[in-house]
Amino acid sequence: MRRLKLSILFIFFVIGSLSAKEGMWIPLLLEKYNLAEMQEMGFELTAQDIYDVNNGSMKDAIVVFGGGCTGEMISPEGLLITNHHCGYRQIQSHSSVENDYLTNGFWAMSREEELPNPGLTVRFLEYMEDVTDEVLEGTEVLETEEREKKIRENTSRLERSASERGKYMTQVKPLFYGNQYYLYVYKVYRDVRLVGAPPSAIGKFGGDTDNWIWPRHTGDFSLFRVYAGENNEPADYSPDNVPFQPKKFFPISLDGVQEGDFTMVFGNPGSTMQYIPSHEVDIIQNQRDPDRIAIRDKKLEILNQAMESDPKVRIQYSAKHASISNAWKKWQGEILGLERLDAINKKLAFEAAFKEWAEANRTWESEYQQVFENFDALYFLYKDFIKASDYYSEIVLRGVEIFQVASRVNNIIKNIESKQDKRLESELKGTLDFLPRFFKDYHHPVDEQLFETLIPLLSNDLKSEFLPEYLNDVLAKNDRDKLVRKVYQKSVLTDEQKLKQILEEGDEKKLLKLRKDPVLELYNRLNFHYEANIKPVVDALNSRINQKMKIYMAGIILMKEGEPLYPDANLTLRVAYGKVEGYEPRDGVKYKHYTTLAGIMEKDNPEIYDYNVPERLKELFHSKDYGRYADSEGYLPVCFAASNHTTGGNSGSPIVNAKGHLIGVNFDRCWEGTMSDIMYDPEQSRNIAIDIRYALFLIDKFAGAGYLLDEMELVREKVEVADE
Ligand code: ARG
Ligand code: ASP
Repeated sequence: MRRLKLSILFIFFVIGSLSAKEGMWIPLLLEKYNLAEMQEMGFELTAQDIYDVNNGSMKDAIVVFGGGCTGEMISPEGLLITNHHCGYRQIQSHSSVENDYLTNGFWAMSREEELPNPGLTVRFLEYMEDVTDEVLEGTEVLETEEREKKIRENTSRLERSASERGKYMTQVKPLFYGNQYYLYVYKVYRDVRLVGAPPSAIGKFGGDTDNWIWPRHTGDFSLFRVYAGENNEPADYSPDNVPFQPKKFFPISLDGVQEGDFTMVFGNPGSTMQYIPSHEVDIIQNQRDPDRIAIRDKKLEILNQAMESDPKVRIQYSAKHASISNAWKKWQGEILGLERLDAINKKLAFEAAFKEWAEANRTWESEYQQVFENFDALYFLYKDFIKASDYYSEIVLRGVEIFQVASRVNNIIKNIESKQDKRLESELKGTLDFLPRFFKDYHHPVDEQLFETLIPLLSNDLKSEFLPEYLNDVLAKNDRDKLVRKVYQKSVLTDEQKLKQILEEGDEKKLLKLRKDPVLELYNRLNFHYEANIKPVVDALNSRINQKMKIYMAGIILMKEGEPLYPDANLTLRVAYGKVEGYEPRDGVKYKHYTTLAGIMEKDNPEIYDYNVPERLKELFHSKDYGRYADSEGYLPVCFAASNHTTGGNSGSPIVNAKGHLIGVNFDRCWEGTMSDIMYDPEQSRNIAIDIRYALFLIDKFAGAGYLLDEMELVREKVEVADE
C-alpha cells in the first residue's frame, strides 16, 4: 500500500461537494477545510477563535463530562452546564427519600451548598496533534501482526512522553481506520460539584415517551462547578479548593434563534460508521437492529406492566427502563431512515463507482478487488456470529438481572479454585458492596419473568452451534413453567440475606457449593460458551474487517482527492455546523424549528407520569412572568431543532451562534434522522437543543437561583445586559 499523507491530499476545497451540514470536523483543520463554507453560512469568527493552542479559544471552554458526555464553561468561575441526563447519576446519588432531588430538583443557594461528586471528572483538551508519521514509523516493512505490535509500541511511547509524568491524560487514536493517527492531551479535573438541577418533571419532561422525538419540550440541563487546587491545577476534592478559572467561557446570548441562523455544535461525538460497506449496512438494518429491538420489546413489555402497577417498581426500574428504551427507540428510527434513504443501494452504487475509479487507475486488481472478496467472506461469517453475540449481550450480559450476581459469585469461585487469596478477598468485599445496590432496584417477579421469557429465545433463534449442550438439556427437560420452578426459584442467588450470609462467613466449602446452584450453573455454561466460542471469533473478524477497511478507506481518500472528508467520531472534540431549521417528517407535515412553554401546558396531564407539569411552572405560565427570557414575539422558548451532524456523546455540547455565543445546549436528535450515524440526511437529520433562554428562565424565575446569573456574561446584540 502506498503511504498516505492525508494533509497534502486535501489542498483543494470544493464547496458543495458534501452536503453543507454533514460532518463532524477536526477543530485543528477547520481553516483548511471548513472555514470558508462556515463563513458563507454566516459564521463571523475565525478558526483560531474555535481552536488555538496559544491563546484561549472555544476549545478551552469545553470538557468531556464524566464517561461520555460534553459540558461547557459558562462563567469565569468554573460554572459548567451539561444535560440533566448527563448529570443524572450524580443527582440520583445525592437523593434520598427526605431530599429527593430527582423529583424536586436541587439548587445550591451558595457555594457552600454545592455538592461534591467522588469519581466524577471533567477533562479539557490541551492540544491535539497529527502523529501519523510517528505511529507508523518503522512499520512499513512489517507484516500484519508484527506491524500491529510496532504500532502499539509507538503509540504507548508517544502517550507516555506526552503525559509529562502523569500531568496529562493522553490518548493516541486512529482516524480513517488507521490511515491517520492523532494524539489528544487532556488535563483532568477531579473536584466537580453539583450546583443545580431542575426536577425530573422538567429535566426529563416527556421521559421515554418523547425521547428521540421532535417537537420536544424537555428542560434537559444541569449545572456543575469545577474546582481547582493551587495555581488553578487539578486536585482531589478538598474544602480548600477554589473555583477553577477557565481560559475561556461562553458568553450567553439572549437574542434567541431565527430559522436559517448559522449554528455550530462543538463537542465530543462518540462513534459513527460513515464508511462501512453495503454488507454491514445490510446486517445492521436487516438483522442487528431488528433482533435487538425484538428482544427489547419483550423486556420493555415486562417492565412496563410491572412499573404501571406498582409505584415502587416504577422508581426501581426507571433508570433501567430509560437505558433499555433509549437505544431500542433509536434503532427503530435508524431502520426507517436507512430504508427511506435506500442506504444499501446507495452504498452499492458507491462501491460500483469506487470499482470504476480503481479500474481506471489500474489499481482495482492489484489493491482493492481482494478487499471486496474478503468483505464478502468476512461478512458472511460475521453475520451469524454477530447475531449470537447480540443475543448473548442482550440476554446473558444485560438481560436477566440475576446473572449479574451470578457473574460476581462466579469470580469468587474461580479465585477459590485458583487459590488467589488476595483477589478472593477483594472480590468478596466488592460483591458485598454490590449486593445492596443491586437488590435495592431489583424486583423478584420482574426478573423471573425476564428469565422465563428471554432464556428460550436463545434456543429458538440461534443455531445450535452457538448454544452450550447444557442449555438444550435444560430446555428439553423443562417446559417454560418448570424452567422457572426448577432453575430460577431454586436458586439462592435471588435471596439477598442468605447470599450475604454465605459471603460474610467466607467459608470456602460453602462457597464452592454454590457451583451447584442452578442459576449459577446455567449462567456459567452460557458465559463459558460465549467467551470460548463466540467472542473471540467476533473480535478476530472485527480486526480482519478493520484491516481491510483501512485499505478501502485509503482508496476512498484517494478517489475523493480534493474533497474534505471527516473521520468517524471517536469521542474527541469535533465541530459540526448547520442551521436552525425544522423539517418535513412526512408528506404534508412540516415541523417548526422551535417549541414553547405553551406546548408543555398542552401536554400537561397529572395522570401520565411523563407529562405531569410542576405547579410552579404552571403558575409562571399563567402569570406570563417570563422576564427577559421571552422571545421578542412574547412566548417562552423551550427547545429548538437544527441541522448539525451530532451523535451520542454530543449530549451537553454547546450550540453557538455566528458570534460564538451560547444559544442552547444539545441533548438529542429527531427520530427520523437517527440513521445519521451511518448515513446523514440533510433533509431529515436534526439535532435538538434546549434553548438557553429556557434554562436561564428556570434558574432565575422557577428556582429563584438568579444569583448564578451574576457570574455569567449575558449578551444581547453584543451589548451587556444590566442586572434586573
Ligand atoms: N436520546 C438521548 C440520548 O441518546 C437522551 C437519552 C436520555 N433520555 C431518556 N429519556 N432516556 O442520549
Ligand atoms: N442523546 C445523545 C447523548 O446523550 C445525543 C444523540 O445521540 O444525539 O449524547
